[in-house]
Amino acid sequence: MILFKDVSKVYGNGVTAINNLSLRIYKDEFVFLMGASGAGKSTLIKLLMKEEDPTSGKISVNSRDLSMIRRGAVQRYRRQIGVVFQDFRLLEHKTVFGNVAFAMEIMGKSRKDINEKVEASLSLMGLSKKADEYPRNLSGGEQQRVALARAIVNSPRILIADEPTGNLDPANAEQIMYLLELINSQGTTVIVATHAQEMARKMGRRILYLDHGTRNDNMSSGGGGAEEAMAAGDRVNISSAFGEFAANVQEEEYSGLFTEDNSVSDEGGK
Ligand SMILES: Nc1ncnc2c1ncn2[C@@H]1O[C@H](COP(=O)(O)OP(=O)(O)OP(=O)(O)O)[C@@H](O)[C@H]1O
Ligand SMILES: [Mg+2]
Repeated sequence: MILFKDVSKVYGNGVTAINNLSLRIYKDEFVFLMGASGAGKSTLIKLLMKEEDPTSGKISVNSRDLSMIRRGAVQRYRRQIGVVFQDFRLLEHKTVFGNVAFAMEIMGKSRKDINEKVEASLSLMGLSKKADEYPRNLSGGEQQRVALARAIVNSPRILIADEPTGNLDPANAEQIMYLLELINSQGTTVIVATHAQEMARKMGRRILYLDHGTRNDNMSSGGGGAEEAMAAGDRVNISSAFGEFAANVQEEEYSGLFTEDNSVSDEGGK
């Protein structure tokens, strides 16, 4: 479980990006983070990754107080979090396979383990045939799927996506949403920062609205918000919208990605 308790972040230039924010995200949740440009979405993500430290307040992830994590242990902490950025951030001189394998190579995983997990991850993202291509030869949607494959290859407990569909056309954006749902259904907490209000509502998941760095739950009222839809039990079944693509996804292979790491105790998680 992710907990923010009265968290504020004031940057060096005096800008208050997060203002006395409290929130709770449960282990099995898929939540959207919405709010205008500058509302603090990316800052919240940076705090979660411990790329920035809060000016005040407490953040805990799976019962771990982030302020207690020593500098030398930050990398290890981050390994339980997969991240996808709007601009993909793929390594241009590495193939698709190489991009996804890279994080595991750094961790000194065996070649066999790397091959198995990278192949499963690429297969899940519908990218097996692109394994030997370089990122520049891929479409935007494909590049984003490589970034997703890379983010999940180490079986993260939390997956964070910052505007994962910002550069994609509607069809590719929906495909990415479907894949995020699939990842969530396997036990990974999914957090998606987005401006795509329409899509977020359609997904029927909880939406956290940020306004000038703090929660604004009023923004969800009116127009049949996601939380109301969920309460009414009419959550959109997005999977059914992807007939062919979904059929090609090999869920079994994906399950194989989630072995030891996710079966360990939840440390008081939910
Ligand atoms: N490194 C930084 N130093 C100083 N100010 C920053 C820094 N990063 C962000 N800010 C400021 O903090 C506020 C929140 O920025 P943040 O990037 O978190 O917003 P956002 O919700 O992600 O916006 P967008 O939707 O445009 O990505 C903004 O006013 C921004 O200018
Ligand atoms: Mg941002």
